[in-house]
Amino acid sequence: MGRVSRVEGLLARMTLVEKLGQLTMSSAGFTVTGPVIAGDSTEAIRRGEVGNLLNLVGGEPVRALQRVAVEESRLGIPLLLAFDVVHGHRTLFPVPLAEAGALDAELWARTARAAAVEAAADGIAMTFAPMLDVARDPRWGRGVEGPGEDPMLASRFAAAKVEGFQGGDLTRDDALAAVAKHYCAYGAVTAGRDYASVDVSERTLREVYLPPFDAALGAGVAAVMPAFTDLAGVPLTAHRGLLRDRLRRRLGFEGVIVTDYHAIAELIVHGVAADLAEAAALALEAGVDIDMMSGAFRHGLPLALERGRVDLQTIDAAVRRVLTLKERLGLFADPYRRGKAALPAAVRARHRALAREAACRSLVLLKNDREVLPFGPTLRRLAVVGPLADAPLEMAGPWPGAGADDAPVSVIAGLRAALPAVQIHCAAGVPIGTPAQAVAAECAGPPDYPAAADSAPPPESDLAAALGLCESADAVVLCVGEAARMSGEAASRGALDLPGSQREFAEAVCRRAAARGVPVIVVLFSGRPLAVPWLVQAADAVLAAWFPGSEAGAAIADVLCGRVGPSARTAITWPRAVGQVPLFFGERPSGRPANRDDPYTSKYLDFPVAPLFPFGHGLTYGRFRYTGLRANRERIEEHESLEVSVDLVNEGAHAAEETVFLFTHPRTSSVSRPILELKAFAKVALAAGASGTVTLRLAGADLRTLGADLEPQFEPGAVDLLVGPCADREQLHVLGLIKERAGR
Ligand code: BGC
Repeated sequence: MGRVSRVEGLLARMTLVEKLGQLTMSSAGFTVTGPVIAGDSTEAIRRGEVGNLLNLVGGEPVRALQRVAVEESRLGIPLLLAFDVVHGHRTLFPVPLAEAGALDAELWARTARAAAVEAAADGIAMTFAPMLDVARDPRWGRGVEGPGEDPMLASRFAAAKVEGFQGGDLTRDDALAAVAKHYCAYGAVTAGRDYASVDVSERTLREVYLPPFDAALGAGVAAVMPAFTDLAGVPLTAHRGLLRDRLRRRLGFEGVIVTDYHAIAELIVHGVAADLAEAAALALEAGVDIDMMSGAFRHGLPLALERGRVDLQTIDAAVRRVLTLKERLGLFADPYRRGKAALPAAVRARHRALAREAACRSLVLLKNDREVLPFGPTLRRLAVVGPLADAPLEMAGPWPGAGADDAPVSVIAGLRAALPAVQIHCAAGVPIGTPAQAVAAECAGPPDYPAAADSAPPPESDLAAALGLCESADAVVLCVGEAARMSGEAASRGALDLPGSQREFAEAVCRRAAARGVPVIVVLFSGRPLAVPWLVQAADAVLAAWFPGSEAGAAIADVLCGRVGPSARTAITWPRAVGQVPLFFGERPSGRPANRDDPYTSKYLDFPVAPLFPFGHGLTYGRFRYTGLRANRERIEEHESLEVSVDLVNEGAHAAEETVFLFTHPRTSSVSRPILELKAFAKVALAAGASGTVTLRLAGADLRTLGADLEPQFEPGAVDLLVGPCADREQLHVLGLIKERAGR
């Protein structure tokens, strides 16, 4: 039957209860991510009161409930099953913040595709991903779920992920409907505290927070999820201006808008609705279609109708969109199409290989003094110490999908497999500890963060064993950082140091090793940049591993041993201290830029303005020299495009892959522009001693800015093109370009 006629036919036959059922999403009780735990929804599904489920996973259980919906409910409308497939489903890929640093759109799409294949095999039809919140405040734990601080990078990431999840055709048995979340500016929560209020300027909203969502729309994203928070007083769940007016009317988005968990009921707590009926009316009127876990549409909309706060046409329009999505997903044609068969072993093996590749390409080498890495052939005895050395489950990161079939590979397991001829000894030394423990001494009053079971002091013997290992090793791999659950939702931190007593431990390890002249290689796990200048200084090498996923230890060993060279860059600026936060390269210039010799300039009395590591930083095993920056034109009009080229020589001893960034900055413009704006990036792989050329493309349209009236404009004038390895101005090569009006 044709899509339109089936949907319209159903609509004509539906009762109000059945319509509201299609606008309701309940949890199957498999996972709990919020304050409401749904009971068994089977009866409600049979009565047509629940049309969508989250958190039910697995071919068999999905089929059983789908059968209730299709065979036992009056209209037989199939269920839409959704799940958070954020960085993998069974096979876990690196957390998005890490994967963003791979700067590889093809890789981003491939991992999303693999995740979709696995989730679809588990009966899932929709993923609450990609998370596209630009995040510039590492205190906010959810930065780990998204693509980092830059809107251009985030936009590329958005398009690739949507294409990967959706696979170009939603009816495919292995396609998932993607949900672009959390619309929008969730990353700007006050003081980095999760769920807190957001207030950003209209300009920042348009220039920074909205572009990744627009890119997702451009890629055909099936659904959008409004953020939990308010934006300048208007909760996004009830934001007519952004949902109904911008998304639907102006941008023509015809997909589904699904709320975040319990968000409609929380409109009452936000203080914009007096009761559930009012909350439901506000959300529906703003453009929301599916109510996740509030029961507000189901229980509140009938009253809102009676009160005349909403009308049936608005309800019908929402139902139409939900049914259309189900139709697009091929659910009417075959409700059981997803989750029919387990994935062949060969596919799973391919996904594990991809997980290893993605993890290798996401590890960021922050420091490598005296080129202590990769390990040389003379290595005989290796000490692998620290609480994350043998912690396979922590490698998974904060959204461990539906649970891996096998535990992720730990660092110690990876190293043992890679270095069979080396004697490797391992000791944790101290537990991971809790964030609160590390700051307890400085905080008045009890911390809010509950003490974890492992926060007890370690037995002296553990500590002594770990330090003892450093006495006899040729090199020490020190694995420290956060536990997986210390970032992600509801995991904001006020300090950005190592949790628990890891600092004291790490200092003791570095002292012991330094006394013997043995190198310390830190492998740092975290869902955010950690402000650890003392650690960076004390260690010889530092590898930011983030949370690499299923193949963590194997990939870390690949990179430490030099089987694969490190190539990733940090997609977020690393601060030295929490006091610098928010710290990002796209800041606007001050009228009094920081100047060490002038006290009345924009800086701190107590720490430097410069970050610990700039956006884009990441070393390779090569050493690149940039020369001959040039462009194929000196002037550009809006409809034209330009190629910027630069020659690179790898003067290092190893083959390596370099990432080259192109930033711009107008010398003058009617509205002050950020110090650097990222416009393009490209990669080149060069053998030791080899040279090559990187060419980056810039369209005139990329040089449009928002005028004082917030309208796009192409303002004539001189622009600097800045090319180099990261967002540190000192490392960038500069070339001038003239923007001019068409036809001059
Ligand atoms: C999170 C969303 C997630 C949803 C469903 C919420 O708590 O904010 O990102 O998609 O739960 O699990």
